[in-house]
Formats: sequence, structure tokens, C-alpha cells
Amino acid sequence: TADRDLAGRHVVVSAGGTREPLDPVRFLGNRSSGKQGYALARTAAARGARVTLLSANAALPDPAGVDVVHVTTAMELRDAVRQAAGTADAVVMAAAVADFRPAAYATGKIKKQEGKEPEPVALVRNPDILAELAADRARPGQLIVGFAAETDDVLANGRAKLRRKGCDLLVVNEVGENKTFGAEESEAVVLAADGSETPVPYGRKENLADTVWDLVANRLG
Ligand code: C5P
Repeated sequence: TADRDLAGRHVVVSAGGTREPLDPVRFLGNRSSGKQGYALARTAAARGARVTLLSANAALPDPAGVDVVHVTTAMELRDAVRQAAGTADAVVMAAAVADFRPAAYATGKIKKQEGKEPEPVALVRNPDILAELAADRARPGQLIVGFAAETDDVLANGRAKLRRKGCDLLVVNEVGENKTFGAEESEAVVLAADGSETPVPYGRKENLADTVWDLVANRLG
């Protein structure tokens, strides 16, 4: 890794998992720990980049030398990404974004009612932030990087997702029980829109992060 090869660059990284509130005490969430996104932020800062980290509910300390913006929901994350992307050379969406949110928010705690079945929870779609960023680039040549967690047909599903999202790079993780989510280590393949595939062997999330920045630095020239 060439050190300081991201000097003069601004990168935006999202991390963690969004929470979609049902009422003041409950939410729909996911198991993302934020570790991969934080590793991306730390390694980019170490390579000289100005880093904006959009953190969604990660129970991790703010990394030194990084601008951290804390968000809760997908809609908040979308606003924060749009704002930060204006000056960014690259945006890496490592956060697990909820695909759906409750259609209604109850301002008081939802109560169980004696002898009554619960009401079903109606959901509405959240926007696909990654696809929006890729379709409507804030700057010419801005690189958009996504993550995908797949349980089967990892490469085929990854390729299809890369095309569907329109991003430049897609980091595909194989997930399963106790794999990747919350772990210190992961194994991945980075798929590029130009057809290249970069396998990243099982190892620390910092190592995967550095591989992502190698590919980004290369493409930024
Ligand atoms: O479609 P899927 O959820 O597998 O895609 C994962 C990638 O898309 C991640 O990079 C995630 O941050 C991004 N994403 C998004 N907005 C959504 C759902 C996913 O930006 N609503």
C-alpha cells in the first residue's frame, strides 16, 4: 500500500445499520456492527484522505481525524450522504440500509390489548441510496462503491447487483451464521464494473478496507 496515496482526496463512508422506528421505544434494525465501515474510515484517513464517516447506530468510538456524522434512519442517512457527496471523490456505502420502514410511526408506545391479536406492521420501501448516488453523480468521475452480503451464488448475485445498482465497485461478502456480521474478520470478492474481480482472502476488515482503497486510488488516477 502506497502511503498517503489518498492525500487531497475527500471520501465518504457509511457504516453501521439503520434503524426504522415503530414507536418511541421500538425499531426494525439489523445486525451490522459498523466494524467494516469504521475500518474503511480509519484506513482512508491513514492514507491521507479527508474522511466523512456517516455512522448509523454503531456502538464504536469516533475514529481520530475523521469527521463523524451520526444518523439513525435510512432517510437521515440519505440526506447526510447527499450533503457529504457534493465534494467527494469516492462514496463507499458499507452501511446496512433497511429496505423497508414502518409506514406509520406511533408517537406513543404501542400496547398489547387483552384478548386481541396484534395489528400487522405495514411497511413501505426506502429509497436505494447506493443506486441513487450512482445514477446521479454529484461530481464527474466520482466513484461509487457498494457492499453486498450474499448467502448463495455469491458471484452471480454480486454481478447482477453491481449492474442493477450501477456502482463502480461492489464488495461481495459471503454471509452465514457467525460470518462477517459483528466479526473482526471477513472474506470477500471485489467486483468492478470493468469486469475485474479481486478476491480478498479471509482476514481482518482493515485488510479488505485497504484493498478497496487500492482499487479506488487506482481508478482516481
Ligand atoms: O440490495 P442490497 O441491500 O443487497 O444492497 C446493499 C448495498 O446497497 C450496500 O452498499 C448498501 O449500503 C446499499 N443500500 C442502499 N440503500 C438501500 C439498501 C441498500 O444504499 N435502501
